[in-house]
Amino acid sequence: MAKDTLILGIESSCDETAAAVVKNGRAVMSNIINTQIEIHKKFGGVVPEVASRRHIENIDAVIDAALSEAGVTFSDIDAIAVTYGPGLVGALLVGVSTAKALAYALNKPLVPVNHIKGHIMANFVSHPDLKPPFVCLVASGGHSHIVKVTSYTDLEILGRTRDDAAGEAFDKVARVLGLGYPGGPLVEKAAKDGDKNAVKFPRVRMEDSLDFSFSGVKTAVINHLHKLEQNGEGYSVPDIAASFQDAVTDVLCEHTIEAAVKEDCKTIALAGGVASNGALRAKMTDRAAKKGIDVLYPPPILCTDNAVMIACAGYYGYLDNDFADMTLNAVPALGI
Ligand code: KG4
Ligand code: ZN
Repeated sequence: MAKDTLILGIESSCDETAAAVVKNGRAVMSNIINTQIEIHKKFGGVVPEVASRRHIENIDAVIDAALSEAGVTFSDIDAIAVTYGPGLVGALLVGVSTAKALAYALNKPLVPVNHIKGHIMANFVSHPDLKPPFVCLVASGGHSHIVKVTSYTDLEILGRTRDDAAGEAFDKVARVLGLGYPGGPLVEKAAKDGDKNAVKFPRVRMEDSLDFSFSGVKTAVINHLHKLEQNGEGYSVPDIAASFQDAVTDVLCEHTIEAAVKEDCKTIALAGGVASNGALRAKMTDRAAKKGIDVLYPPPILCTDNAVMIACAGYYGYLDNDFADMTLNAVPALGI
């Protein structure tokens, strides 16, 4: 029997310091996430300098916890995988420097991982039988893409946002509704008690393109609230949240299902923080089923930032001999 391959994944691109050990790219041996949400909440969003400092304070303990929960030591690890972009430069540098130091000191290979590709890989962990090709919607706070995953290491972009990311729109709408940060889960919660047909917000569609644009719907919500306030009228936060969520999820579903039909793919996977949205999951599953397409998604804890997805991507990079040397640097604007 072939020897198991253990990858230590490290993630620090935004406001989660995370480390995980994954066996053979699929079996989660540990998943440690130290989130800074409570710290950034009072600022209404992530403060990059604060995030970097907290990563520095936490990263060693998070890595130790990942090894100990997995019941392994550094010597059992075959390679160290780390997010090197995209993300906040100071935050990324903490993970990259730590991973480089470990790889050098332990004489282990270093595998650079693209954070967005990492999000997609979470699906391989939660669905062990999943194999490429499939269409994936990756929707997070910084990115919204529809891709065709053609192999474990390659993908083709079918659509992308031309302005705001879907998660960014959720965060901004949550802020104007006074719901707080991070916006996505709070909008989803408020929407549960609201009427999604209360306000018809725009569903933007660009001709001959699967690209998204979410800045229009965000502005439409802001304008709607301003108008009501100017007229001295009140409004129902749940109704606005539900109507906004319905508009965004309609567009995400329509474009993604169209992409799958075009590519003749019978599987759609969801990834990224927005993929933990229950309304999106239900709508995509329901509408795709009508076209004979299955919809898969990771559990919420593997949709938002984590290091399991980085270790999984790192495993396939390791098999591909995609190694970095000590010149590896953080690339904040790394493309997908
Ligand atoms: O993937 P992620 O944790 O970090 C990035 O790589 O950006 O995604 C965070 C984004 C935030 O914008 C957050 O509001 C959104 O995902 N999000 C959600 C939900 N949970 C997180 N959006 C909608 N519904 C949710 N339940
Ligand atoms: Zn992310």
